[in-house]
Amino acid sequence: MKILNLFPSSVIQDKILINQNIKKEMIEEIETMVLNSKNKDDKGDQDSWTGDTQGFEYIFKNKKFSLLLQEIKKTTIKYINHLGIDDNKIDMYMNRSWATVSYGKEKILPHKHKQSHISFAYYLKKNPEDSNIMFYDEHFQNEIIPGLFTSRTARAGGVLKEMNFFNASSIDIKIEEDDILVFPSKSLHGTQPNKLNSGRISISGDIVCVAKDSELLENMMPPINNWDKL
Ligand SMILES: [Fe+2]
Repeated sequence: MKILNLFPSSVIQDKILINQNIKKEMIEEIETMVLNSKNKDDKGDQDSWTGDTQGFEYIFKNKKFSLLLQEIKKTTIKYINHLGIDDNKIDMYMNRSWATVSYGKEKILPHKHKQSHISFAYYLKKNPEDSNIMFYDEHFQNEIIPGLFTSRTARAGGVLKEMNFFNASSIDIKIEEDDILVFPSKSLHGTQPNKLNSGRISISGDIVCVAKDSELLENMMPPINNWDKL
């Protein structure tokens, strides 16, 4: 017998190893951003600090992050190649990138990055006890009985006798410092709740894909230099 798992949702998990001094500089730079937050009232007590909501959404323009972003680009190319996309046929633009910082029970609620195609999360500072990232299913392809996989009573009553990879409605990915994840921007994701963070720092970003050549191509965004600003 074999089980065929059809239509997967792929996330790449890789390592980016960067000199400790450069990492220290990036951490200090992010700590300065936190001190200079421009919208402190927006952050609730249980929310992580997210740079994109505090006036720091273009971290890729900061030279101290250049080396990291070069490595992120390499991982992103591996990711699109895994999906069977030819990186010679598309241009990728990072349009936003920001840090997140979590202390104590602070968390990031489930969300999507709706304005882009590919997103990443790199873990600049993470203890094993700090929260992991979670992905949430929205399609429930295997859920033969509607509502079964999220039913508390079905689980309590033993109808769903075990949670596994094939019936999970959410999955947390074990993350270590220096890990990077690249995933579809449309994936619903957040951080694990009820964890105690000790200054966990991640860097997130969004990438948009544009066709290098739009001739005879119907679906993709055409090259930006052919756009006409109204
Ligand atoms: Fe996110």
